[in-house]
Amino acid sequence: MRTLKTFLIFTIIGITSTFAQGQTYGLKDVYPDFKFGNVLNSSTVTQQKMKDLVLREFNSITPENELKPNATMTQTGSTDTDIKVNLSSASAILKFCQDNNIPVRGHTLVWHSQTPPWFFRANMQSKPHTWDDKLTASDVLADAETMNKRMESYIKNIFALIKKNYPNLNLYAYDVVNEAFENWGGNLRPGGIDQAAGQSPWMKIYGSNQYIINAFAYARQYAPENCKLFYNDYNEYGSDKCNSIVSLANKLKGLGTIDGIGMQSHLDLPETTHTVSAFGAALKKFAATGLEVQVTEIDVTIPNIASGQVPTVSEYEAQGRKYRDIMKEVLKYKDSVTAFVVWGIQDNQSWRSNRFPVLFDKNGNKKPAYDELFALGTLPSSNPELQFDNSLKAWANGNQLQVTGVDVGKMWRVYTTTGVLVHQGISLGRDVVHNVSTIQSGAYIVWTENGTTKVIF
Ligand code: GLA
Repeated sequence: MRTLKTFLIFTIIGITSTFAQGQTYGLKDVYPDFKFGNVLNSSTVTQQKMKDLVLREFNSITPENELKPNATMTQTGSTDTDIKVNLSSASAILKFCQDNNIPVRGHTLVWHSQTPPWFFRANMQSKPHTWDDKLTASDVLADAETMNKRMESYIKNIFALIKKNYPNLNLYAYDVVNEAFENWGGNLRPGGIDQAAGQSPWMKIYGSNQYIINAFAYARQYAPENCKLFYNDYNEYGSDKCNSIVSLANKLKGLGTIDGIGMQSHLDLPETTHTVSAFGAALKKFAATGLEVQVTEIDVTIPNIASGQVPTVSEYEAQGRKYRDIMKEVLKYKDSVTAFVVWGIQDNQSWRSNRFPVLFDKNGNKKPAYDELFALGTLPSSNPELQFDNSLKAWANGNQLQVTGVDVGKMWRVYTTTGVLVHQGISLGRDVVHNVSTIQSGAYIVWTENGTTKVIF
C-alpha cells in the first residue's frame, strides 16, 4: 500500500508540474474545436465581475446592441455616398476585447430592425433623428440604386473605423445580413415600413433578395481578410426556413461572398416546442453546404415563471439537459461549427430575463446548464491544480466506480493516475456508485469543478 501511495504521489506531482498553479478552466478551455462565446453590452462591460467572468469562460464576444446600425449610423453629415459612422457605444467593448485578445463577432450590418428610419428616406436629412422616429406612409423612400450607394458606404466606413480605432482587434466574424426571412416558412420577410411589426424597408425598396447579394459583395470587398462573413437568422430549424437559408447560402457561396451561416438558436422549454432533433436536422443541412456554422445567440427559456418567482431545481435541470443535448448535436458537426455563443451572461442581464435562459444566475453562480455543458467538454490533457483531501475518493471494483465526498450538485471528473479521463458527472449525493462498463479496478484521481482537485487512496 505504501508503495502504491508513493507511486501515486509522484505521478500526481508530475502531472501538476506541467500545469499552471491555481488555473481554473472555463468553457472556452473544454471546447477546443470552436470558440465559446457570449455577449457584452454597454452596461456589463463596465462591471469588473462580468469582465472577470468573460476572461475565465469565453473566447468570443459579440457586442449585444452596440454594433447594430442604430448605434453606429450618424445622421449628421451623412450623404448618399458617405454614411457617417461612430463607435461610441461599442468602444468600451472593443477596447476590452482588443486589450485582452478576445476575438469579436460583429453584429450586424443589414437588418430590417434597429436601423434608423432616416437611412431609408429619399431625403436622409428630412427629419432629425429621434429615438421614437418611425417611417410613415407619407415618407418617400430612397430607390435601390441610392440604397446601394448608402449600403456600400456604410459597410466600407464601419470596417474602416474599426480598423483605425482598434488596429489589433481580432474581428473574426461578422453578421452581414440578419433575419431576412419571415418568422416561419421559406419566404423572404415582407417588404414594408412597419419595422416594429417585422416588415423590411430593404425588401420594400428592392423587392427581391438583391439587397442581400449586394450586402455580401460589399462586405467581402471591405471586411478585413480574416473576418468571416455570416448570414444569421432565427427559427432556423423550421424546415421551410432552413431550406430557404440553405439555397440563399449556396447562391452566395457560388459568388464567393459568404463564409458561414449563423443559427441564432433562441430556444425554449419544453422540448416539444423547439426540439433538439429539429435543431440537429437544420445543423446537418447547414453543415452540408460546406460553409462554417456558428451558434450565434443561444438561450433556452423556462416558461411560465410567475413574476417574482424563480424556476424549480427540476426546471433548471431540464434546461441543463436541453443545453447538453443541443451541444451533443453541435459536437456531431464540430468540423463545421466554429463558434457557440450564448446570448447573455447572467439571467438577469438577458433580453428574456423573466425566463431565466442562460448559464449563470443573477449572482454569477453556475447553473445546471453550465455544469452540463462543462461536463460534456474535453479537459485539456493536463490536470488542474491538485490538492490532497481525505474526504474525496474514487475507487473502482469490477465495473463499479465509487465516487465519495463530492458536494451535491458539483461536477466531478475521474482520471487515471496518468491523467486519462475515465468518467464524469454531476454529483447527486456524497457517496455514489456508478456503473461503468470498462474500468480497471484501483484508485483514481477525482477533480471537482470548484478547482480543489483532490486525490485519495
Ligand atoms: C435578435 C437579434 C439580436 C438581438 C436579439 C434580442 O436575435 O439578432 O441582435 O436583438 O434579437 O436581444
